[in-house]
Amino acid sequence: MQHAVVVLAAGLGSRMKSQLPKVLHPLLGKPLLAYCVETALATKPSKVVVVTGHGAERVQALLSVYGVDWAIQEKQLGTAHALAQAEPQLKGFQGPVLLIQGDTPFTRPETLKGLLAALGSAGMALVTAKLADPRGYGRVLRDAKGMVAANIEEKDATPDQKRIQEINTGVYAFNSQVWEMLRLVDNKNAGGEYYLPDLIRVYRERGKEVVGLEAEDANEFLGINSREQLAQAEALMLERLRRDWMAKGVRMILPETIYLEPSVKLAPDATLWPGVILRGSTQIGEGAEVGAYSVLTDAVLGPGATVKSHVVIEGGSIAGGADAGPFARIRAGTVIESGAHVGNFVELKNARLGKGAKAGHVSYLGDVDIGEEANIGAGTIVANFDGKKKHQTRVGKRAFIGSNSTLIAPVNIGDQAYVAAGSAINQDVPGEALGIAREHQRNIEGYARRKKPAPREQEE
Ligand code: UD1
Ligand code: CA
Repeated sequence: MQHAVVVLAAGLGSRMKSQLPKVLHPLLGKPLLAYCVETALATKPSKVVVVTGHGAERVQALLSVYGVDWAIQEKQLGTAHALAQAEPQLKGFQGPVLLIQGDTPFTRPETLKGLLAALGSAGMALVTAKLADPRGYGRVLRDAKGMVAANIEEKDATPDQKRIQEINTGVYAFNSQVWEMLRLVDNKNAGGEYYLPDLIRVYRERGKEVVGLEAEDANEFLGINSREQLAQAEALMLERLRRDWMAKGVRMILPETIYLEPSVKLAPDATLWPGVILRGSTQIGEGAEVGAYSVLTDAVLGPGATVKSHVVIEGGSIAGGADAGPFARIRAGTVIESGAHVGNFVELKNARLGKGAKAGHVSYLGDVDIGEEANIGAGTIVANFDGKKKHQTRVGKRAFIGSNSTLIAPVNIGDQAYVAAGSAINQDVPGEALGIAREHQRNIEGYARRKKPAPREQEE
């Protein structure tokens, strides 16, 4: 019989002290709830229902990306009340129901499948874990036969019970009686809430067995309730990511200083220097190198590409054999072709730098197509914005743009054309021509002598 999954995500997460609903807080760039929904979907359920409440609209926007259903819990009266809100969505559903919490991002689909198997013909099953520091979690009480008998929330626990190290991970499986059982849960406890783990007691009182499945790795059930726990979770996930990539042949220098998101892809023999940050859909090709303190978001580095230190890339690609930096900024829509070179303090936006082309120093190159082996002199600025609109500029193959030139868009510089240093170019320069647009120099002979005595002479 196929199962359904309910994900609880209605709470505010007051311990986060944030305007953002807790389940939308990013863990390595991805919302906590996204991890949970992906885990739920990976178990191939017949239905996923997410219970939303706080910040429901924003949460639902995320859910619509995944195409899963949601229910609304108007008032956050507790986790049992939250599950009850999913009943209409699962009307007539006869299979078992898995429940996970939207703030527990590490739970693996295999664990959920194992829990379903453990449920068998019992009424309820839950995953427990032994923690050295169980603070904050519900404690699991076992009966004389070693069966799970009850859960006590921290708030309701006696000092003796607080010493129990076995905790409720918040991952459950229920048989299809769960909806009738939920009606028997009350809110007579320290929190004044309808507690979901109270179902343990309810099922047992109705003569149904409750199975406790002890987890091997307690880290899998780390619940994120505070900023500190979020940071711990991030550290844990980063450690795993780094270890996995190194096992696949990536070289990391001082790996503990490197930040990378799970969506990033790295190839063997890529080298990451200390302090590198890799985000979004970034891909680093085989043998490519990223220098210290460079921040790459949605960047693509071809095999053997080089990014030196302190480079910022926000969407854009660098082909193999090309290099950028130190201190370059590469913005969306930029394509740097093989053998091209981008030097320090060069900003590119929506620009193509053709094969072997060079822009070595201090330039702004926006909305421009630069042909192969063109040379962009130091201080070149493409003035792409007229105050209202952006315009396109083209620089031909092997063109030579002299230092400190301004190319006022839209303008075309032909193949192998020259622009004299210091020019402000607002008309096309034909191929092989020299464009010069600056005041002629004139020298005034003997000027110094005709001037009044220099200040230094006055002092003497
Ligand atoms: C819960 C369990 C605790 C367990 C721990 C594991 C209860 C009463 N306690 O505690 O036994 O050890 O998880 O991580 O269930 N939510 C709603 N509506 C509500 C209240 C909460 O949707 O009215 C959602 C929250 O958004 C969250 C999840 O349920 O995703 C758990 O709520 P939270 O307040 O974090 O429970 P814990 O105190 O961690
Ligand atoms: Ca929690």
